[in-house]
Amino acid sequence: MQFNRSEFLIETEVPEDELIISRTDLSGMITYVNETFAEISGYEINDLIGKPHNIIRHPDMPSSVFKQLWETLQSGQKWGGYVKNMRSDTGFYWVYAEVSGVFKEGVLIEYKSIRTPIRCQEKLKHQKLYDEMRLKAGERRRVIDYM
Ligand SMILES: Cc1cc2nc3c(=O)[nH]c(=O)nc-3n(C[C@H](O)[C@H](O)[C@H](O)COP(=O)(O)O)c2cc1C
Repeated sequence: MQFNRSEFLIETEVPEDELIISRTDLSGMITYVNETFAEISGYEINDLIGKPHNIIRHPDMPSSVFKQLWETLQSGQKWGGYVKNMRSDTGFYWVYAEVSGVFKEGVLIEYKSIRTPIRCQEKLKHQKLYDEMRLKAGERRRVIDYM
């Protein structure tokens, strides 16, 4: 993956009136995505099914955010957080994601996530916060900043 391509800087706006939905098995492999998910992420639905959900992980995301997501889910709770995702063309989009269990007759069978758009201030705030978190954790550093 090359991170110096110009698409890397292009943001896709998430529409206000549509939800971006996916489900995974208990190990994080995608089992379902809706059409909006496919459209926003730049993939075909069939290219996403069976793939690990980190296919859309953006390198700006600190590892600790996902560690906390999985720990929260595994303790039986819902997780909510701000996520920057990477499109198939290396562009990006920001969402607020809620992730929780899918139960059948009381048994946890899958996880589901519903994502909604966030405001510009929230994007800037979380970009800065996540940059600081990655810096402290010794993870990859950005060389480009927002104006
Ligand atoms: C239902 C569900 C939805 C998820 N959605 C995303 C997502 O939109 N973007 C993302 O980067 N990770 C998402 N994850 C977390 C990934 O499974 C993974 O932990 C994360 O991308 C970090 O991957 P890595 O630690 O293998 O690099 C989701 C997990 C679950 C269970």
